[in-house]
Amino acid sequence: MRTQVAIIGAGPAGLLLAQLLNQQGIDSVILEARSRHYIENRVRAGVLEHQSVDILNEAGVGARMMREGLVHDGVIIQFAGVAHRIDLASLTGHGVMIYGQQEVVKDLVEARIQSGRPLYFEVDNVSIHDFDADAPYVKFRHHGAEQRLDCDFVAGCDGFHGVCRASLPPSRIELFERVYPFAWLGILADAEPASEELIYAHHERGFALLSMRSEAVSRLYLQCKPDENLDEWPDDRVWDELQKRFDRSDGFQLRVGPITQKSVTPMRSFVAEPMRHGRLFLTGDAAHIVPPTGAKGMNLAIADVKVLSLALGAHYHESRDDRLESFSAVCLRRIWKVQRFSWWMTSMLHQFDEDNAFDRRRQIAELDYVVTSKVASQSLAENYIGLPLDPNGG
Ligand code: FAD
Ligand code: PHB
Repeated sequence: MRTQVAIIGAGPAGLLLAQLLNQQGIDSVILEARSRHYIENRVRAGVLEHQSVDILNEAGVGARMMREGLVHDGVIIQFAGVAHRIDLASLTGHGVMIYGQQEVVKDLVEARIQSGRPLYFEVDNVSIHDFDADAPYVKFRHHGAEQRLDCDFVAGCDGFHGVCRASLPPSRIELFERVYPFAWLGILADAEPASEELIYAHHERGFALLSMRSEAVSRLYLQCKPDENLDEWPDDRVWDELQKRFDRSDGFQLRVGPITQKSVTPMRSFVAEPMRHGRLFLTGDAAHIVPPTGAKGMNLAIADVKVLSLALGAHYHESRDDRLESFSAVCLRRIWKVQRFSWWMTSMLHQFDEDNAFDRRRQIAELDYVVTSKVASQSLAENYIGLPLDPNGG
């Protein structure tokens, strides 16, 4: 079988790339290791930058998001038992959209099926070949049968543990990494969110985050050990710990309800450079990971594939390859700024060391500065709603 672009992975990056290519009349085949049910129910990110919202709308997959998503014009930063609102809209002119990643994935899978172009679930044994030459191909197994997919380009959209980055000899990539000494215990609960806006809480027992998926479903996180055993966290203990960390002088109370999902997410910052190797392009989590404190992972994946789709459009429709050549540099310039923001939010809000009283005072001073200085709040807001994305690299 043959296609123009072989897309490995049906996460937000792979599915959106396929849709943006389809809009330009460019053919692709998507190969996904897991089942449709699995990818549509994997609970992950929830915050979309305003430009991600625009990109999804322009891609023709935004209708349900615009109906069901929650527009947030502010975000709460809490420390020393007091909540402070950062007014994103008045500081930047934009807000963010709360809409679950699995909903974005469902909308994109639906659009793919409507397009009639192929999406293979539950493939295994994927390997990529000859991406340094003019005629790359991908081998994979589907329903027990070995297949070969010839293509012009391979898009590695297969996440952090995928096969594309792993196919490169170590000498060809430079890795930049920071692993944090903590993780997030995340829950989804059938409970009305206790706050209309997200709360990022600094607390000496550890960071906590209140988020949501709808007016009836809360998403909450608490900082925990990287090797935390979920068996030691019955529901009552989770609520009790969350309530302690969201404790406030104004008597704020969480609303509790049945917990429907519980997981531990490790925290890391990671970049693999460059993002282009001949006719292989790495995008999204395959090329970089950010700690979730800045809410940036899915947004970076969306930005990468927007740049790549335009570069591939220029190749096929204008016979220009300069955009393919600058893809990696254009993406990395913005990615590093987003890495910096995610690292900064993480270091300001988490407990790193049990008895480092100096760092705790410094964090409180920094938080106090951020919420009282107009320019500091504006800087946080400008990064949170999403730095400008110029697909031409400007
Ligand atoms: P993925 O979503 O990982 O998709 C990769 C796909 O490739 C998967 O479907 C996988 O099954 C498939 N695959 C892997 N290997 C192969 C193979 N060999 N062959 C074929 N297919 C393969 N980001 C935000 O923007 N905002 C947030 O609020 C946020 N919160 C988060 C909270 C949590 C708990 C977690 C875990 C992540 C969060 N993120 C957040 C990050 C975000 O979820 C990721 O950055 C995003 O999923 C990246 O998309 P992707 O398409 O690059 O990769
Ligand atoms: C989420 O809703 O899952 C979420 C929100 C904000 C973050 C991280 C995760 O910073």
